[in-house]
Amino acid sequence: MTQQTETHAKLVVDDEFKVGPVHDRVFGSFVEHLGRCVYTGIYEPGHPTADEEGFRQDVIDLVKELGATTIRYPGGNFVSGYNWEDGVGPKQDRPRRLDLAWHSTETNQFGLHEMASWLRKAGGNELMEAVNLGTRGLAEALDLLEYANVPEGTARSEERIRNGAEDPFDIRMWCLGNEMDGPWQTGHKSAEDYGKLAASVAAGMRMIDPDLELVVCGSSSHTMDTFGKWEEIVLEHTFDKVNFVSAHAYYFPQIMPDGSRDMASFLASGVDMDGFIKDVGAAIDATRSRLKSDHNVYISFDEWNVWYMGEEPSKNPEGIGNWPVAPRLLEDIYSVADAVVVGDLLITLLQNADRVHAASLAQLVNVIAPIMTEPNGPAWRQTTFYPFSLTAAWAKGGSVLEPKIESPQYHTDRYGDVASTNAVAVRGADGSVSVFVTNRSLDDECTFDIKLPGDFTPHEIEARTLHDDDILAANTLHDQHRVEPYTNDSASMHSGTVSVTLPPVSWTAIQIR
Ligand code: AHR
Repeated sequence: MTQQTETHAKLVVDDEFKVGPVHDRVFGSFVEHLGRCVYTGIYEPGHPTADEEGFRQDVIDLVKELGATTIRYPGGNFVSGYNWEDGVGPKQDRPRRLDLAWHSTETNQFGLHEMASWLRKAGGNELMEAVNLGTRGLAEALDLLEYANVPEGTARSEERIRNGAEDPFDIRMWCLGNEMDGPWQTGHKSAEDYGKLAASVAAGMRMIDPDLELVVCGSSSHTMDTFGKWEEIVLEHTFDKVNFVSAHAYYFPQIMPDGSRDMASFLASGVDMDGFIKDVGAAIDATRSRLKSDHNVYISFDEWNVWYMGEEPSKNPEGIGNWPVAPRLLEDIYSVADAVVVGDLLITLLQNADRVHAASLAQLVNVIAPIMTEPNGPAWRQTTFYPFSLTAAWAKGGSVLEPKIESPQYHTDRYGDVASTNAVAVRGADGSVSVFVTNRSLDDECTFDIKLPGDFTPHEIEARTLHDDDILAANTLHDQHRVEPYTNDSASMHSGTVSVTLPPVSWTAIQIR
């Protein structure tokens, strides 16, 4: 057994050093036509809680509680083979199609109109729409934009009105394809080919509406061989025409030669995400100065999460054709350790608020998701639900302060020595200070001190911690409330400093009012 020791860490909260506003869009999520995210996830006609459109009310309630904002749709890898026209018009006329990405049969019973309507019901969340630049191109992207955003009087806008949407969907944020650097992507392209295509699609879309916010595909991961070069070439082609470059990152504890999992490195995944953001930021700056551009491009971290990629739940159905409808795919069950990593990644996204103006937790329901459902059964919160929902609830509307942290270190095989405490402070519009912090150490409890600004007189502290002595504990269908955040009673105040005890492998949110 490892000896538990007590360590100390400190965060200085200083209003003079702001990183930037907390962007609402950082609390985005992602609904892909993949597995049971849509079908029997958000949409299940006949479910006891379903409304007249087939939307599960139990899921809508949880999505509202989660605090998700912008929702990326309809993919993901799925979008690179998708005909958006298949998902509009009378449902009985919509075709069944092969979904090449996930070896599934797409029934198209849910499409753009259903998504727009679901978003209104789920709290008025913003739609972030992806266009297919895998099997399709400029013409189809323009058709979709005309269909979605032109008020009336053209073939596509009138078609939308006939299909039941009098008002345009007015979609502001558009992804120019998905992970086009990935050899797994239908219609995968070289950086040169994709850069040229994305530039022409962006230019065309801006002819219809110059104020759209466009996201060009960055590398699909920090570890791609083409990482960096891809960003350079693609941004060179598109810089002045786009607002965002995307970044995607998934983490899981690697299996070591002795069969155990490398939990120490996994808990420090935020170190990699931070480096990834800095690297993409450098590529943006280099391109900007090379092109002598006054324009700026930000990062849309539009896929991030823990994902046990390549393991059993993520294996595609086999065979040729006759693929199942909405199979159970990527249904990872998240542990306490996974939730601590998710909380840590969210801290990292906030710390980089100057660069990262949008992000999407991938995904929302059933598929590597904070919310799980059973067909005709209940919906429940995974462990990862809590760091997301509490951070969203306390950080939205605030300003991120530069994190000045003194932390002990611990050793990881993957990243060397890293800080065992990761934290960020947010000054709320109401004057409160919220701090989000992880103790990444597998062994040590940490006394965490927050030094408050001199003029701040705290009256009340609330501290909520997610931890369990069993770091693999999870919420399941049969034990839906096994892991929940608890009030951390150790929080105390003395002469301008708040102290909280952080158990090993834990995530904590502290609000000081
Ligand atoms: O989120 C699951 C998949 O991960 C997405 O479809 C794809 O874009 C990424 O590789």
